[in-house]
Amino acid sequence: MSENILIELKGLTKSYGYGDTKYFALKDFDLTIKRGEFIMIMGPSGCGKTTLLNIIGLLDRATRGEYILNGENVANISMRRQAKLRAKKIGFVFQNFNLIEDLPIIDNVSLPLVYTGYSKTAQLKNASSALRRFHLQEKEYYLPYQLSGGQQQRVAIARAIVNDPEIILADEPTGNLDSRSSHVVMEELKAIHEEGNTIIMVTHNPALTVYATRVINMLDGQIDTDIKTVEDQNLPQPISVKIKKRKKSRRK
Ligand SMILES: Nc1ncnc2c1ncn2[C@@H]1O[C@H](COP(=O)(O)OP(=O)(O)OP(=O)(O)O)[C@@H](O)[C@H]1O
Ligand SMILES: [Mg+2]
Repeated sequence: MSENILIELKGLTKSYGYGDTKYFALKDFDLTIKRGEFIMIMGPSGCGKTTLLNIIGLLDRATRGEYILNGENVANISMRRQAKLRAKKIGFVFQNFNLIEDLPIIDNVSLPLVYTGYSKTAQLKNASSALRRFHLQEKEYYLPYQLSGGQQQRVAIARAIVNDPEIILADEPTGNLDSRSSHVVMEELKAIHEEGNTIIMVTHNPALTVYATRVINMLDGQIDTDIKTVEDQNLPQPISVKIKKRKKSRRK
């Protein structure tokens, strides 16, 4: 198996209900994702985009089919380890922000660090620098309701990247933003991608696909079209892999 393959989905199916009312949110879905891809997923409401992200992000399970993450079949990973993987490797931006109402935004952003063994001070420091990245340093102690929709979405993205995850799953991160905030968010995601991280993002906005290395259109729980705009060999590499390769080449 190529070391660049991050995610393999084989015959992934998610169904709800039984018998006549059985409904397929995903149907025999096959997809291979390489490290460093920036995938945009498009498609009509209800076609299974959020369902797909939730399964990839280990928040939900498929009814049938295989999910191989980093070469490991997820079905064989204990719930405990799945939770750890989720905390260390995956950052989420949810469709509806999911901020905790009565927590200042700095504490919202530091939430993914709570189980990582960082001291409270280190957690707040990291959260603070993630907020700075999104130009929200002056609002650290505001509550979510005191921010605009665009600002709340930036907090949600700061929270998604605070633990330096390899995989970022973003469900319409610019859905509620004006074009200027949307630009800020996309430039940040671009920078995160160029650091070698893998991004899978749902969007309804075709103008944003210029940021993607691959655009997948879904229809009725399946892939309708799948277009790569960047060759695999030109995808950004994770910084750690680059260092390893450099070491190897020095030895030669
Ligand atoms: N818990 C559930 N029980 C029953 N059906 C569900 C459940 N969750 C999702 N579905 C159905 O699965 C389908 C796919 O839902 P999903 O949320 O993945 O769509 P989506 O592509 O993200 O749509 P949108 O663009 O509106 O966010 C929908 O028809 C939805 O009604
Ligand atoms: Mg959705």
